[in-house]
Amino acid sequence: MSKSIIEVLDGSRQSPPPVWLMRQAGRYLPEYRALRAKAGDFLNLLFTPEHAVEVTLQPIRRFGFDAAILFSDILVIPHALGQPVRFAAGEGPRLEPLPNGEALKRLASEVDQAVLAPIYETVRGVKAKLDPGTALLGFCGAPWTVASYMIAGQGTPDQAPARLFAYREPAAFGALLDLLVTASAAYLVRQLQAGADAVQIFDTWAGVLSPEEFARWCIKPTQAIVAKVRAQISGAKVIGFPRGAGTLLPRYVEEVPVNAVGLDWTVERGLVRARVQSRVAVQGNLDPLVLVAGGPALERAVDAVLEAFVDRPFIFNLGHGIVPETPIAHVEAMLKRVRGK
Ligand code: CP3
Repeated sequence: MSKSIIEVLDGSRQSPPPVWLMRQAGRYLPEYRALRAKAGDFLNLLFTPEHAVEVTLQPIRRFGFDAAILFSDILVIPHALGQPVRFAAGEGPRLEPLPNGEALKRLASEVDQAVLAPIYETVRGVKAKLDPGTALLGFCGAPWTVASYMIAGQGTPDQAPARLFAYREPAAFGALLDLLVTASAAYLVRQLQAGADAVQIFDTWAGVLSPEEFARWCIKPTQAIVAKVRAQISGAKVIGFPRGAGTLLPRYVEEVPVNAVGLDWTVERGLVRARVQSRVAVQGNLDPLVLVAGGPALERAVDAVLEAFVDRPFIFNLGHGIVPETPIAHVEAMLKRVRGK
């Protein structure tokens, strides 16, 4: 049985479109919360293959999504570069900040693959349990987004610490991104070798960059990752997700040879149809909050997304991760509507 998502990434239209959700394994699921409580700590959950395999499969069992996404986090890369990450309950990630070029000397010159080894074991474990029609997606964070957490030491509303760092010390910032390009490409290659069918590169904070910085810190490093991955695995399938890129999306797909691009919910759909989906497959773009709201608003929003994109290569998804408050019944209603059942 062929995987419908891979068909779309190869440029064919599928009807109904394949569907999966960003952050589909997570706190809106009671079975996730139970295992998370048992594991005690988020890092323990993701670095224990037995647990991570189970969490990856939970949403597949419950909803029959067309793709499973490896359960891990983009911040395992700094962790493996010697900048330990903690996830304080209810607070999000915490790292020792790297405020200037001098502080970058604390990082290792390459990732410790022993730290990441359990993640590849998870990929192999999930692959062995998935039915052949369900794709397995690996992922990494894009260098700009990962660097923004490394520099600030936590999430911030506009990534001001990283933007300031890049203006003040562009050479040191560039060296950090180069390190992340090398680490991320090696990490994706190993995920693909372990059985991932495609990989997604999450650039969650692409939207805070000016057009010039977007070219330098989002497009260039992502291009370099794709080139390095394909030099080792020719034809590797890649989904790019420069969240918030807006009117810069056409430029992104012209310059980064991705198979598909993720759309957040703010992008103008006419622009995407004319200048993005004409070139590559698109994925998205339902507002995660309309999935919380449900009812007629959800029905209208699902229909609008389908109407805009379903006549060409398209993967149904949210415009960003599912939020913990999302009712399971709304996910079920959404799936029924997308699949026409
Ligand atoms: O999509 C999936 O189901 C796969 C797993 C996945 C997680 N994080 C698990 C997670 C993926 C693909 C990510 C990516 C990720 N992580 C991104 C990029 C995409 C995005 O959402 O913007 C970013 C920026 C991170 C960093 C990160 N991890 C933050 C900011 C947080 C805290 C916010 C939050 O939702 O709590 C995390 C924690 C995290 N990563 C959780 C999960 C399920 C919640 C941890 C918990 O159980 O308490």
